[in-house]
Amino acid sequence: MDILNIIDKKEKGEKLTKEELQYVVDGYLDGTIKDYQMSAFLTEIDLLGLSEEETIDLTDIMLKSGETIDLGFNNIVDKHSTGGVGDKTTIVLAPLVASLGVKVAKMSGRGLGHTGGTIDKLESIKGFQTSMTLDKFKDQVNEIGIALVGQMGNLVPADKKIYALRDVTGTVDSIPLIASSIMSKKLASGASSIVIDLKVGSGALVNNLDEAKELANLMVKIGHNNNKKTACVLTNMDEPLGYAIGNSIEVIEAINTLKGDGPKDLTDLVIKLGTLMVAAGLNISEEEALEKVKENLYNGKGYEKMLEWVKAQGGDITSLPIAKHSKEITSPKDGYISKINALEIGKLSRKLGAGRLTKDDTIDLTVGIILNYKVGDFVSKGKSLATILYNDKELTNEEILSCYEFSEQKVEKPKLIIDIIK
Ligand code: URA
Repeated sequence: MDILNIIDKKEKGEKLTKEELQYVVDGYLDGTIKDYQMSAFLTEIDLLGLSEEETIDLTDIMLKSGETIDLGFNNIVDKHSTGGVGDKTTIVLAPLVASLGVKVAKMSGRGLGHTGGTIDKLESIKGFQTSMTLDKFKDQVNEIGIALVGQMGNLVPADKKIYALRDVTGTVDSIPLIASSIMSKKLASGASSIVIDLKVGSGALVNNLDEAKELANLMVKIGHNNNKKTACVLTNMDEPLGYAIGNSIEVIEAINTLKGDGPKDLTDLVIKLGTLMVAAGLNISEEEALEKVKENLYNGKGYEKMLEWVKAQGGDITSLPIAKHSKEITSPKDGYISKINALEIGKLSRKLGAGRLTKDDTIDLTVGIILNYKVGDFVSKGKSLATILYNDKELTNEEILSCYEFSEQKVEKPKLIIDIIK
């Protein structure tokens, strides 16, 4: 076998065998296949796609390229978000479902580009440890039902290397490559059921609904092929989720949501994903799961579990750090808000210091943007549209206002949950 023949075969539209895909992945990992050859191969996939069978084979090869974690429990439910702006869902959802007896043993990522990451957000809690040994991780899940850390172990090294190359070769948006990348990591981390929040819209990885459905179907198929209950919820990411975009301010919003006082969109999303997770984890009907989720969201049990979890990981939630300065951006007119561009708000939050452009950038966990209105709301001229929390880097009024569009006519609130595929 040789890489040039394989690239040639792909170029002619012929199907690749599992052995050929294995040869490419192994060769790239051991260095015999070079970056320029692999990028030619990935570009072919980006342009011509992969069949369902090839995608399933590629996922399996990537999954087996490194360690897999066996947590020793059989009702672990994992949740994954494809990333968005203001997405603090995991911080609410994880303790909420854990308070109902679903085991949460979760690895999360850091923010990159315009999207935030759960691990950064949690690190704004003083003392909170985002890494631990696998033994401590298992013990904590056993004792209190929840542990959440950054990536650990040598899981899916093939994805680490291939993803880094995709990032600089314009091949991040290929549907089969996204599906195999996400699912290989989910399958390697030991969950028995997987719930994926697939964001669709201007602030998301995928902005086209047909492509999002194709990706969702593919991920669900891969999950089922591996005997995992898998559901994919397509959710709107045209405007940011909730009101807070940053790190510590998102944790504050997550806490308020767990106290039953969160933004409507975030609360609705938590209830929907929570219902799917609890139904899968406890093997009960969705109707029953929905009742349980709502109960623990509003009776304080989810919040109590969060306190227990944060304490177990060394954190002190009593005082979250906030930036030194704040500035109000007022509305230039009366009208209904018809657009808040999630992508641009995410980039502005990063410009304040809340996000990073490269993996090694340091970020300011205290800064961010708080929206005071959402799409569909009426705002009067002179009212504060958004509050900027900042330290050394500022934003101009124009920068924030350029993210907004207004309408004189009433605007419908966008539908948050677009579809569910399982
Ligand atoms: N997230 C991943 O883990 N992989 C992708 O390819 C895209 C998003």
